[in-house]
Amino acid sequence: MCILAMIMMILVISYHQVAGFGNVKISSEAADKLRANNFDCTICNVLLTMVENEIHKENPRLDLFAEKICDAIPEHYSKYKLVCDLLVKGALDVIVNMLLKDYPATEICVAMKFASCNGCRLDNSTLTGKYSVEYAENAKRELGEVLAQLNALQLPALTKNKEMMNQLVKDMVTAKFEKLAQKENNKDAAQLQKEKKAQVVALLRAWIVSLVLLKKKMAPAKAGGLNVRGQPVVPTAGDDDHDLFPGSHMLLRNADWRGMDCDDKNPGIKPGIYDNNQNNRDMNCNGVYGTEPKTGESYESLYCNVTTRQVIMFGDSASSGFHVPPEWLDVDNMSDLGFVLEDEFDWPQKCWSTGWNSSLIGDDGSVYLRMRQRNLCMHRQYQNVGHNGGKIENFLSDQIPGLSMTPNSLPYLGFLAYIGNDVCKDELSEMTTTDQYYERLISGLNVLDKRSPPNSKLLLMGLVDGRILFNQMHNRTHPLGCTYEGLYNFLSCSGANPCPTWLTSNATRRNAASQRAQDLSMVAKKVSETVKLQNIELGYMDFPLDKMLDYCAKNNIPPYLLIEAFDGFHTSINFADKIEAGIIWDWLTINKPQWIGPINSYNTQIQQVFGNQGGF
Ligand SMILES: *[C@@H]1O[C@H](CO)[C@@H](O)[C@H](O)[C@H]1NC(C)=O
Ligand SMILES: *[C@@H]1O[C@H](CO)[C@@H](O)[C@H](O)[C@H]1NC(C)=O
Ligand SMILES: *[C@@H]1O[C@H](CO)[C@@H](O)[C@H](O)[C@H]1NC(C)=O
Ligand SMILES: *[C@@H]1O[C@H](CO)[C@@H](O)[C@H](O)[C@H]1NC(C)=O
Ligand SMILES: *[C@@H]1O[C@H](CO)[C@@H](O)[C@H](O)[C@H]1NC(C)=O
Ligand SMILES: *[C@@H]1O[C@H](CO)[C@@H](O)[C@H](O)[C@H]1NC(C)=O
Repeated sequence: MCILAMIMMILVISYHQVAGFGNVKISSEAADKLRANNFDCTICNVLLTMVENEIHKENPRLDLFAEKICDAIPEHYSKYKLVCDLLVKGALDVIVNMLLKDYPATEICVAMKFASCNGCRLDNSTLTGKYSVEYAENAKRELGEVLAQLNALQLPALTKNKEMMNQLVKDMVTAKFEKLAQKENNKDAAQLQKEKKAQVVALLRAWIVSLVLLKKKMAPAKAGGLNVRGQPVVPTAGDDDHDLFPGSHMLLRNADWRGMDCDDKNPGIKPGIYDNNQNNRDMNCNGVYGTEPKTGESYESLYCNVTTRQVIMFGDSASSGFHVPPEWLDVDNMSDLGFVLEDEFDWPQKCWSTGWNSSLIGDDGSVYLRMRQRNLCMHRQYQNVGHNGGKIENFLSDQIPGLSMTPNSLPYLGFLAYIGNDVCKDELSEMTTTDQYYERLISGLNVLDKRSPPNSKLLLMGLVDGRILFNQMHNRTHPLGCTYEGLYNFLSCSGANPCPTWLTSNATRRNAASQRAQDLSMVAKKVSETVKLQNIELGYMDFPLDKMLDYCAKNNIPPYLLIEAFDGFHTSINFADKIEAGIIWDWLTINKPQWIGPINSYNTQIQQVFGNQGGF
């Protein structure tokens, strides 16, 4: 069941940006409230269901799950762990008893006022059949008592009382270790129950932490790193010199998104700039620096005197590599949750545009890596300012401001790919219109042009035809046991559907969304053909879905593999992205050969002198 938790988190994080980790954009207070509730419903429902499932297993390992989640919570959110300990301490017995009595998760969530689930249920989930009005009534009554206990804790006052909190936490840890010790002995039924309770406590702790974290919308005072706009949240170890390029692969908007900074104390040193070899330093962090002894020339001017570009990506979750690892189906296999959370469930290190980790995706797994292969001087020269939920309005308002860019930067090969969110709306009438799309694209381009170095290139990509999702997935079985169609309906019912216009049983809606997507694509195409900019040359390419399907057909690969199994919505990072990178690259070599530049004839020398160029 853990996957469902993940899916929900993701879907909501992705598309409704309830927890945009530092950048939360929700139009109105009412919408905020509504979405928060729906989000809580899915999370609460799922995690409590997990607890139930585990309680009834022979060897429940909720402790492990909880440990992993709690451990994964970054240090700078630790205050929430304390709050959560307090909550659990106060309400423990009642909550555990409720769970052991098989109350339906949804009812507990509703009664605890953690969520209002609109009465929705996921068909064929493990709890089907257990539900009854009587349960619901009892749950509400008993949980009323829980709430009373929670209120009696007077949390705000307690959290200010450091000493008291520390003592409480200490007690909890001690208790936990006692129970672990008992595990070694022979157990009777009562003992077993006790242990299960402990495990449930641990899980609840994780659950409450996640609820609290997500409810607070991840705007911690000391978050560190960069927010979705790419701006530093506060002075931190993530980007000490505030040049937007982070010095590590940790924290928010870390070096998975942009080439790693090789001097995080000096804002004049970072990827993406012209390197004049000042003081024999590596100014642009491409690993080429110093003076060649024979000629007295800098290595940078000797070896990197071809057009070196950076790769830039404007986009959405599909272009940032949204993904939940399938291994997480099994709680024991969860790993790196901290990294994944801080990367907003995206895997930009593997994405088709700026993916950089060649041991994960191969030397040809992304456009950046292919560019780097041609010209090793491009090492670390990339910026991905896409974010989950990205749509055309975010181009100007969020993503351009997140760029590190002046007219003196390295020219870029850029991609603009908002492939669906503009038509993924609750109502067809809310979809972005062609006029809006045109106006938002043009105003973004005009601002970007002023900031861009001469000789920059930008490929506008069309929207996808999202009907592939329903067509391929609806009658397949989701890992939860329901069909994808059932999952889509549950998501719609509970208000957490990331794309109610495409992920729906209603063919009229799906067709209308695809029609609008096509209309918007045509606007982008026309702009690329008619708008002349000073520093940016524009191009246009349809989203290459048909070519991806051709690839599948040719290689006898079932097309559903192009879609993420967990969410039934995104292109799959471990499969589709690599195909996409290859198709886009081939398109560039045929249609825009001058955009990708010549092969650097000094590549061998660079390798000889600079080895791995400082790594990643
Ligand atoms: C680099 O290219 C420029 C212009 O093409 C040329 O003037 C310069 O001499 C070149 N530098 C080296 C070290 O080859
Ligand atoms: C979890 O890991 C084990 C051991 O590596 C593996 O056998 C199992 O298939 C994994 N579970 C999932 C769901 O991937
Ligand atoms: C790149 O991916 C490999 C393979 O998963 C991993 O071992 C390595 O740590 C990654 N590199 C970095 C710098 O994270
Ligand atoms: C799903 O439906 C399609 C036709 O709409 C059919 O070709 C396919 O075999 C079905 N798949 C499953 C798993 O039932
Ligand atoms: C639930 O399971 C039944 C029987 O396996 C199936 O017919 C039905 O379509 C499923 N419902 C959903 C929403 O997946
Ligand atoms: C399908 O969607 C269209 C457009 O939103 C709507 O007018 C129609 O009533 C819907 N059909 C069903 C069966 O819900």
